[in-house]
Amino acid sequence: MHNIRGLDTDGGEVVRMPDGSGKPRVMNIGLIGFGTVGTAVYQILQQNREELRLQTRVDLRVKRIVVRDLTKPRPVAVAEGLLTDNPQDVLADPEIDIVVEMVGGAHLKPVLLQALASGKAVITANKELIADHGPELFRTAEACDVDLLFEGSVGGGIPILRPLRETLAAGRIRRIMGIVNGTTNYILTQMSREGKSFAAALAEAQLAGYAEADPTADVDGHDAARKLAILATIAFHSRVTTADVYAEGIRRITPADIAYGQQRGWALKLLAIAAQEGEQYEARVHPAFIPATHPLASVNDAFNAIYVHGEEVGETMFYGRGAGGMPTASAVIGDIVEAAKNRRRGVSFSEVQQYNDWSRKEQVRVLSRYYLRVALTQPAAEPAARTLALVGAGAAGEGSQFADGQTSARQAVEHLLPTYGIPVAYLSEYRRPDGTGDLVVETGLTTEGALHTMREVLHGVPGVAAITNIIRILN
Ligand code: HSE
Repeated sequence: MHNIRGLDTDGGEVVRMPDGSGKPRVMNIGLIGFGTVGTAVYQILQQNREELRLQTRVDLRVKRIVVRDLTKPRPVAVAEGLLTDNPQDVLADPEIDIVVEMVGGAHLKPVLLQALASGKAVITANKELIADHGPELFRTAEACDVDLLFEGSVGGGIPILRPLRETLAAGRIRRIMGIVNGTTNYILTQMSREGKSFAAALAEAQLAGYAEADPTADVDGHDAARKLAILATIAFHSRVTTADVYAEGIRRITPADIAYGQQRGWALKLLAIAAQEGEQYEARVHPAFIPATHPLASVNDAFNAIYVHGEEVGETMFYGRGAGGMPTASAVIGDIVEAAKNRRRGVSFSEVQQYNDWSRKEQVRVLSRYYLRVALTQPAAEPAARTLALVGAGAAGEGSQFADGQTSARQAVEHLLPTYGIPVAYLSEYRRPDGTGDLVVETGLTTEGALHTMREVLHGVPGVAAITNIIRILN
């Protein structure tokens, strides 16, 4: 063992020289959850123990690890007596200074509250809890004067929350746009590169260990919505919960949609977007076409990237591994270091300032361009059996009259959309071998409300079988 400046070594064990400060030299950690991230946290604490001791001037020791099943085989060896299946062995132990919760899920709330109330610093990556129960947890942490840190909850290993709450705190952040879910980014990358179906790409993501057996939280956008709620709350200083985020997932995306985008010079990504204007904010998660030249377009596989636009700082971008044991554990260790330093200094961080009370902009008023894929009962250019006289008379008014049998679905759609305030920017048609066809419409800027109304009407247009997909276009 090498000798470290400022430290003595004693029989191979590094011992910090007494500094007479009376500050703690050892801190005990109670780890709750020993899955992928929990195990990686333990490994880093063991492997980098000396480095961490140098940085914090504290010997960080894992005293107990709470697991669900004591008999389960573990990928790492742990000392005898470290594992327990009773959370009270951590929560009620007065010698434990820092609780690291790596289980996830809202049901952990009583555990975290008890840890905070017992005067322990709490480190978590629990998105559900922070996004939806943040105020209660922060109030408790503040009242108990202890740290509550959660860097690992968003962006895996990417340092994003601390820069938002500290480094960029002086400025006014107006917009966040990012890829914050590694699993869906991996799936979309597979679909884009290999032309795979959603189901095949999902199966591959499960095999690679990204997607869960029940992939709902990732593929339906809930995980990204929770992360966006946390980001927006910190950035805008206004409370944003998961329920305040509009969320749409990627289940409906087909290789045909992606191939169309590629022809047009676009990439398809699941984006999380939050923007603030005046006293309102918008927060949404949905798939979107972006120009292939956009920096987010080259963020592939399980990587995440988050754009932050601040009034003063302009554009900044944070990029890195958004999922996985070691990357997330790296963020968690950063929090442990902060908590250890804070405890030595006798201070704590327990606040996410929420002094604004802004309202969410109604989703129907949000503006976007759209890609619509419409399945037809016949090739797009051929006259439909019955045409638009009915539609025109009821909804589109003057100028919508067509003679029966003379108007194609394409003409009908081209005519109908502008009457609902939806400009048609580009229209193309595809003929299928079975005699049916597809119509792809790119709209100009329109509100989501207009799109909903148009959608209803389009369903009644002769020749239209279904609207098979609607995807936003951002450019
Ligand atoms: N399921 C998440 C993802 C893990 O795929 O991004 C990280 O929060």
